[in-house]
Amino acid sequence: MAYFPISLPVLASCLLLYIHYAQARLHHHPPRYHHHEKKHKHAADSPPGSHISQPPYYSPSPSPLLAPSPSPSSPYSSLDGIFDVREFGAVGDGMSDDTNAFKDAWDSACQTDSAVLLVPHGHSFMIQSNIFTGPCQSGLIFQVDGTLMPPDGPESWPKNNSRRQWLVFYRIDEMTFQGTGLIDGRGERWWNLPCKPHKGPNGSTLPGPCYSPIAIRFFMSTNLTLQGLRIKDSPQFNLRFDSCRNVHIESIYIVAPALSPNTDGIHVENTNNVRIYNSIISNGDDCVSIGSGCYDVDIKNITCGQGHGISIGSLGNHNSRASVSNITVRDSAIKQSANGVRIKTWQGGYGSVSGVRYENIRMENVRNPIIVDQFYCLTKECLNQTSAVVVSDIEYRNIKGTYNVRSPPMHFGCSDSVPCRNITLSEVELLPAEGEMVLDAFCWNVYGELETMTIPPVSCLLDGTP
Ligand SMILES: *[C@@H]1O[C@H](CO)[C@@H](O)[C@H](O)[C@H]1NC(C)=O
Ligand SMILES: *[C@@H]1O[C@H](CO)[C@@H](O)[C@H](O)[C@H]1NC(C)=O
Ligand SMILES: *[C@@H]1O[C@H](CO)[C@@H](O)[C@H](O)[C@H]1NC(C)=O
Ligand SMILES: *[C@@H]1O[C@H](CO)[C@@H](O)[C@H](O)[C@H]1NC(C)=O
Ligand SMILES: *[C@@H]1O[C@H](CO)[C@@H](O)[C@H](O)[C@H]1NC(C)=O
Ligand SMILES: *[C@@H]1O[C@H](CO)[C@@H](O)[C@H](O)[C@H]1NC(C)=O
Ligand SMILES: *[C@@H]1O[C@H](CO)[C@@H](O)[C@H](O)[C@H]1NC(C)=O
Repeated sequence: MAYFPISLPVLASCLLLYIHYAQARLHHHPPRYHHHEKKHKHAADSPPGSHISQPPYYSPSPSPLLAPSPSPSSPYSSLDGIFDVREFGAVGDGMSDDTNAFKDAWDSACQTDSAVLLVPHGHSFMIQSNIFTGPCQSGLIFQVDGTLMPPDGPESWPKNNSRRQWLVFYRIDEMTFQGTGLIDGRGERWWNLPCKPHKGPNGSTLPGPCYSPIAIRFFMSTNLTLQGLRIKDSPQFNLRFDSCRNVHIESIYIVAPALSPNTDGIHVENTNNVRIYNSIISNGDDCVSIGSGCYDVDIKNITCGQGHGISIGSLGNHNSRASVSNITVRDSAIKQSANGVRIKTWQGGYGSVSGVRYENIRMENVRNPIIVDQFYCLTKECLNQTSAVVVSDIEYRNIKGTYNVRSPPMHFGCSDSVPCRNITLSEVELLPAEGEMVLDAFCWNVYGELETMTIPPVSCLLDGTP
């Protein structure tokens, strides 16, 4: 950003404006006053002039006017559009509650063109559940080079905060969320709540609501890029996108233990134009899950570690309508997982899944490498119904590797009244990781064709169209 020399009178009147503003703010927002005090105190041991170079509010041409002696090399200067959360009072000792500092840093960065909200390296910031709301000026970068974490577990979660989500980005039109840092969800105490599967007394599961926060959630946002971040131990889903458009995820590393419940890596819902590239996800539930209303999703070069594989669904729960189309998963690996590539729908739903291409996927000791399950049910008490989400136009090309012999390597379980159609298998070669080969694929009411011979051979696809 350019520095414009200005005359003393202009500067003086700007400072007056600033003071006036600060007083007005004090008047209207008493709780924030302490925070301001803290900020200025904190700034005292920062480079000279830095506290004043950091405008606490937006003005159309903010920094030059408020920075009488800017030092361009100062990491605290907002002349370069960098909004370091420490300049807003964040402590970063892993214990102090830095929520208000993040809120203020967000408010300033959001109002500034091409701003960088910086979470600096070498510090751990504890912040409570918060909604970062847009729209913001364009080119915003949320740069996490340090560690960001929530309060540690349900006991320390403030009673009046949402237990369903931690960091939420809402109505953002363009933002890059990136950095070399770590988002640590501190999920363990949530996974062990007695309402979680088999975590109650004597391995029971206590009834009742069992919300746990999603670590990072984007809602009604567009043109998002997430890159380079590490996310670990989310209490629930790691990343979730609802009603977003144009999402690019690149070089993300997500990790949680194999037995952490519901820790899906990336979940997208009612979201389109999604690219997930060059990422590694190892967790306790679906690696990537694609929910209702998603289309144009391209997944490339991702490695899914232990977990439940890449899933479309579940769709059509409670007789709902779902529609998913144009999904590509290619050049990826799925290891030590319960499923490889899965499509799961409930009985009684409506809508369709179509145009799905799985290509160049390596399986390593996967229990159900290829699975379509139209009888998805969590309780085993679901009744068969006449309607179902239609599954059609699904291609499996060059899917190779090993499976766990506890179940058939290919499973197509389609509804009685709504068969799966136009399923194509080409160069599918799956061998047992150990033990005897399971000779048969499982097919129920599935129409499609083999372009090449498969291992194991599949003879149960029905010809033509239903
Ligand atoms: C929760 O309560 C605290 C203390 O009463 C208050 O400062 C805070 O603003 C509240 N947070 C929300 C999200 O309502
Ligand atoms: C999103 O990006 C596209 C292409 O770069 C652009 O045409 C569109 O205006 C952007 N949308 C918003 C809401 O920023
Ligand atoms: C756990 O099981 C043991 C033996 O089955 C029983 O004696 C005990 O009462 C059970 N405890 C609870 C809390 O259910
Ligand atoms: C695939 O992703 C990994 C990171 O998971 C990266 O190291 C590798 O370079 C990527 N491969 C290609 C061809 O981009
Ligand atoms: C399918 O999605 C890709 C992006 O993943 C897009 O480039 C392509 O145009 C879409 N195809 C159709 C037919 O919409
Ligand atoms: C539903 O239909 C499938 C396939 O016909 C059958 O295997 C299954 O037992 C049925 N389930 C119920 C609950 O009737
Ligand atoms: C079968 O599906 C493929 C894509 O998976 C599509 O290109 C083709 O047109 C479909 N065939 C029919 C007969 O619908």
